[in-house]
Amino acid sequence: MARILTLTLNPALDLTVQLPRLEAGQVNRSDVMHTHAAGKGVNVAQVLADLGHQLTVSGFLGEDNLQAFETLFARRGFVDAFIRVPGETRSNIKLAESDGRITDINGPGPQVSEAAQQALMDRLEQIAPGHDAVVVAGSLPLGVSAKWLQTLILRLKKLGLNVALDTSGDALREALKASPWLIKPNTEELAEVLDCEVVSVRAQAKAAERLHAQGIEHVVISHGAEGVNWFSVGSALHATPPRVSVASTVGAGDSLLAGMIHGLLSADTPEQTLRTATAIAAMAVTQIGFGIGDAAQLAQLEQGVRVRPLTEQ
Ligand SMILES: Nc1ncnc2c1ncn2[C@@H]1O[C@H](COP(=O)(O)OP(=O)(O)OP(=O)(O)O)[C@@H](O)[C@H]1O
Ligand SMILES: [Mg+2]
Repeated sequence: MARILTLTLNPALDLTVQLPRLEAGQVNRSDVMHTHAAGKGVNVAQVLADLGHQLTVSGFLGEDNLQAFETLFARRGFVDAFIRVPGETRSNIKLAESDGRITDINGPGPQVSEAAQQALMDRLEQIAPGHDAVVVAGSLPLGVSAKWLQTLILRLKKLGLNVALDTSGDALREALKASPWLIKPNTEELAEVLDCEVVSVRAQAKAAERLHAQGIEHVVISHGAEGVNWFSVGSALHATPPRVSVASTVGAGDSLLAGMIHGLLSADTPEQTLRTATAIAAMAVTQIGFGIGDAAQLAQLEQGVRVRPLTEQ
């Protein structure tokens, strides 16, 4: 069991609305509606907790709607190291249609002051040592710059921590310069920040080689139902997920990231690490939520994952 810190700088209350079909501009009726505390780092923490790890969660939380978060952290036994900021944590509405299509409406979230950013840096200096890895996941809130994220990663690295990063756009572009230990972009996110096509394995391998040269050890590139390419120094593997029926892809990327960190910290073989991570991500897709409810189902999904070296084209 490892001790893992996840940072969610811009968490969200997810409101999932299930409905047969969305008719824009009409009155729609929902079959099921539920709200839960979320945000990429919080999601990753939940999957890692399902895998038996000890979690500390941190980032910024709006102080006006804390309840769902505090209840979740207490229920899951997470150490709560979030900095409270004035205002409300944003809401993200997910309209989930029965054919698997999801329409997202993401709220803006609170403005995070420089004082709050400094408070988080200070808190992390105190609590981060002693963790086996830090996951920084999701977008940046209003007031927090990509440059600040880069500084944060550099600080965490100075404390001797392995930093896994999952973000996009400017935040990813700047954070890459701090050379985190692991990154998990999808193909579009990687293409955007590198400003080149990364669809072919050859292009991905070239990009990964450059990223390795600057000190990024693990480049995990996800591509939805087509699976994952994982480039680490001296080895490159591809995993194809089993075919599953899609209930909702919410949390697929977070589940993959959690699975990768689990395998790497548990010293599983690379093949086993990628197989389990891909199965956990496939499991997320089969449910409206995500997480590992059923170990037998996970074992079965693992059997359906195909892992091969990327050189064998
Ligand atoms: N339809 C699917 N069937 C099986 N596995 C899937 C499917 N969609 C996604 N996955 C698994 O989830 C992983 C992550 O998905 P994806 O590449 O869409 O991540 P993402 O774009 O980062 O998603 P997120 O919106 O969660 O951030 C994939 O690499 C794959 O292993
Ligand atoms: Mg993602």
